[in-house]
Amino acid sequence: MVASRAMMVFRILFHLLVASTQFLVIAALTDPQDFSAIQSLRNSWENVPPSWEGADPCGNRWDGIGCINSRVVSITLSSINLSGQLSSDIQELSELQTLDLSYNKGLTGPLPPAIGNMKKLSNLILVGCGFSGPIPSSIGYLRELVFLSLNSNGFTGGIPPSIGLLSKLYWLDLADNKLTGTIPVSNGKTPGLDMLVKTKHFHFGKNKLLGEIPSLLFHSNMTLKHLLLESNLLTGNIPSTLGLVHTLEVVRLDKNSLSGSVPPNLNNLTSVQELFLANNKLTGPLPNLTGMNLLNYVDLSNNSFAASDVPPWFSTLQSLTSLIMEDTKIQGPLPISLFSLFQLQTVVLRNNMINGTLTIGSSYSNQLHLIDLRNNFIDDFTRRANYSFQIILVDNPICFEGRTEAYCNIPQPTNNSYSTPPENCTPSPCRPDQISSPTCKCAYPYTGSIFFRAPSFSNFGNTSTFASLQEELILTFQSNNLPVDSVSLSNPTKNLDDYLVLNLQVFPSGLNYFNWTGISGIGFVLSNQTFKPPDGFGPFFFIGDNYKYFADLATGSSKSSSSGIIIGAAVGGSVLFLLLLIAGIYAFRQKRRAEVAAKKNDPFASWDPNTNSGGVPQLKGARSFSFEELKKYTNNFSEVNDVGSGGYGKVYRGTLSNGQQVAVKRAQQGSMQGRLEFKTEIELLSRVHHKNVVGLVGFCFDQGEQMLVYEFIANGTLKDSLSGRSGIRLDWMRRLRIALGAARGLQYLHDLADPPIIHRDIKSNNILLDERLNAKVADFGLSKPMGETDRGHVTTQVKGTMGYLDPEYYMTQQLTEKSDVYGFGVLLLELLTARSPIEKGKYIVREVKLAMDKTKEMYKLQQILDPVIASSMAARSLEKFVDLALNCVEESGVNRPTMSEVVKEIENIMELAGLNPNTESASTSASYEGESKGSGNPYTNESLFSYSGGYPPSRLEPK
Ligand SMILES: *[C@@H]1O[C@H](CO)[C@@H](O)[C@H](O)[C@H]1NC(C)=O
Ligand SMILES: *[C@@H]1O[C@H](CO)[C@@H](O)[C@H](O)[C@H]1NC(C)=O
Ligand SMILES: *[C@@H]1O[C@H](CO)[C@@H](O)[C@H](O)[C@H]1NC(C)=O
Ligand SMILES: *[C@@H]1O[C@H](CO)[C@@H](O)[C@H](O)[C@H]1NC(C)=O
Repeated sequence: MVASRAMMVFRILFHLLVASTQFLVIAALTDPQDFSAIQSLRNSWENVPPSWEGADPCGNRWDGIGCINSRVVSITLSSINLSGQLSSDIQELSELQTLDLSYNKGLTGPLPPAIGNMKKLSNLILVGCGFSGPIPSSIGYLRELVFLSLNSNGFTGGIPPSIGLLSKLYWLDLADNKLTGTIPVSNGKTPGLDMLVKTKHFHFGKNKLLGEIPSLLFHSNMTLKHLLLESNLLTGNIPSTLGLVHTLEVVRLDKNSLSGSVPPNLNNLTSVQELFLANNKLTGPLPNLTGMNLLNYVDLSNNSFAASDVPPWFSTLQSLTSLIMEDTKIQGPLPISLFSLFQLQTVVLRNNMINGTLTIGSSYSNQLHLIDLRNNFIDDFTRRANYSFQIILVDNPICFEGRTEAYCNIPQPTNNSYSTPPENCTPSPCRPDQISSPTCKCAYPYTGSIFFRAPSFSNFGNTSTFASLQEELILTFQSNNLPVDSVSLSNPTKNLDDYLVLNLQVFPSGLNYFNWTGISGIGFVLSNQTFKPPDGFGPFFFIGDNYKYFADLATGSSKSSSSGIIIGAAVGGSVLFLLLLIAGIYAFRQKRRAEVAAKKNDPFASWDPNTNSGGVPQLKGARSFSFEELKKYTNNFSEVNDVGSGGYGKVYRGTLSNGQQVAVKRAQQGSMQGRLEFKTEIELLSRVHHKNVVGLVGFCFDQGEQMLVYEFIANGTLKDSLSGRSGIRLDWMRRLRIALGAARGLQYLHDLADPPIIHRDIKSNNILLDERLNAKVADFGLSKPMGETDRGHVTTQVKGTMGYLDPEYYMTQQLTEKSDVYGFGVLLLELLTARSPIEKGKYIVREVKLAMDKTKEMYKLQQILDPVIASSMAARSLEKFVDLALNCVEESGVNRPTMSEVVKEIENIMELAGLNPNTESASTSASYEGESKGSGNPYTNESLFSYSGGYPPSRLEPK
């Protein structure tokens, strides 16, 4: 009895404590100026969240409002059917950094010029609302802006030149409005968009922009990746200055009235993957796209180009997936080699003057899905097989005279009714307003449409493409602490703007509906581009639907009542209250401290292990660093410590507090890996421990950064040494040791790592040399662990580096260890010749085979050998080395040796050359000293710069 009484009192005290903690916060928080601004917003809007009551937005955690101390720093309220106007009182929120009101169509009226007073604003995101009127030029005062997304509204007037003053701007999306006027450029007096040298995204499509594309808009200091000007009213020539912006990856100028000929230096844009020039009035010769080796998707349809023969680049653009050129006056027969481009999916060449016989050959791309040659002059078709893709030859001579073959009929449009399938469960029957999730639970999903403005692919029947998108979406939501159970994608279609559109449904975890915070969080991940789609999807935007199921409509339970408040109200006394206040402060602080500590110890806390998608990274021996730590170890990422860079960002040398030297690979904004790829890389790296494999010391996944911390490898890449860039001379003995080290590292990955790993990107840029010139295999970004079940091979999208790529893998997409053996064989030839695998169009494997004569001394290869070693090598060891290399690059994987056989053979060759394969390379190091340029340190400063190729180096990833 007494005990239960005591318990009761304790409970009452506890409740009071909780209640008073909240009260305390109320009393202490929210700056009065911020509060009055929020109050004004609340008064001008309908449908604000029900938590917007009382006088303390920060203390009472109003949904969609984020605070630091007493100041409001973010407002994120998407998809909640908010309506009304944006009050200019918002300017009072002087600490506001993020404003996201996306997907509220009912928000109308102008964007108030007072917004220019919010000097701290970094993200201004108003996607898919109903705003109208001009974009105020005061926006140019927002010097901290990084994201400016005003797309899909009704803005009118011109693009304010003052946007050019936003020197930190990364993302500029003004698409799908009613903007008119010309694109502003600076002229000494007024600013312009040419000043935006940090901006990666110009998305201006679907407006009414007029006049010429100013040639001053582009120059070599720009870092633009995506230039989207489609569906405007632009006229005049394509300025040749466009060819100066070498960073461009996506160029859409289609659906304008551009005229004149395409500037020849467009060819210089070798990173472009998607090029749309269709539906203009372009004249002159067909553009020469030779050299755009990464080009996936090209659409030049419906222009007025001069008649021309089929251009040579039809058969040389190795990455091509989609060739769309309707009505471009191409004549002559189609080369058979076009169809063997291994990623080719779609060829649409309607309304041209293609003649002769259509021959597809036997080694055509296995991704082919449509060849549409309607209305040409084709008079014959040689078939080698029953092709599974669609061929349309309607309106060609071959189809005249009532032919009945399938290719002479216009096919019924096929619809790709893809939809995320249930995950090993049977969908449950649901109430009409609920939907069964992929995990077979009935719920109220958040829905909307996701638009990809320039995907690299055109075959929407490939379900694995969408599965990877779905997986990445789930991972992103979960790693942002959002209560998401599963994600469903359905109904991929290409719309009239040539965008790929997919329906998205996001399902809640726990309850069967989302709360207000959940919706605003999900909306923000999509509106703020926090979500990065997998490679190949390109730039996207999302338009969310209103969410209205903030309670389970089935039971109607929306608010839980608290009994604590009632009990609390019954107890009084100021002394008790004061005591509780103090206790409250203490409890609050402890909780905060505990949260901070927990976050620090587990940077992947948000990676929910209980889901089927990825789970928490499994790390062995690698530690997690905070951003602050790495900042300190690299001396604030100082230029002095910058030892290399690549497409992904920079590499800094650092010194840990224990004195260990490390290389910190820091991904830059915009080139972050997908979380999944990042996780794959750290998991794999942390699991491998071998002296010929670069060791991972740790990683950082903090404050939006992705960094990998490796052991520092002093002498950079093998490539740099072979090319002479590093100043290290590699004689024959050293090369043999390097070959052996690399082979042992690779053998370890294949045979001893758990699970076994296929590297997928063996090349001289990925072999690093330590201070004793020991070889270390690096860069696992493309690697594939092999599960138990698929021992043997993995079917995957082909990735790797041209020149090292196993042709069998390339044709079949079946990845095996033997693909690494192939790359290793190419590497051996590189060691012999010091030539790049593909140099001036010549392929090293072919060159060696052509040059060699087995009946002669040294196989008569003296001409092709690296002169540095030609004199110093024994003929017999050279011959065996060449035999081994050519054995590794056998056409068929089964004929290639395993890595352990390769290791044995290199050991034999070394013994032949009088070297002991099992001693450390001390002698090598000593002989090196003689050649170094003075100074006590044999590895002069020069070796630091040998990282210029990146660490681990950047790589080419054909898609
Ligand atoms: C590019 O940048 C360099 C160095 O900052 C500067 O000297 C040059 O004038 C710039 N060029 C243009 C066209 O802005
Ligand atoms: C760009 O192309 C032009 C001609 O097409 C050529 O003369 C020029 O050297 C190229 N510039 C660069 C930087 O590649
Ligand atoms: C196309 O450009 C390539 C170099 O990028 C050049 O070698 C070739 O001659 C050009 N072809 C024509 C027809 O101008
Ligand atoms: C195809 O067209 C080209 C150019 O118009 C012409 O020279 C050639 O003779 C034609 N070939 C056939 C087989 O009709």
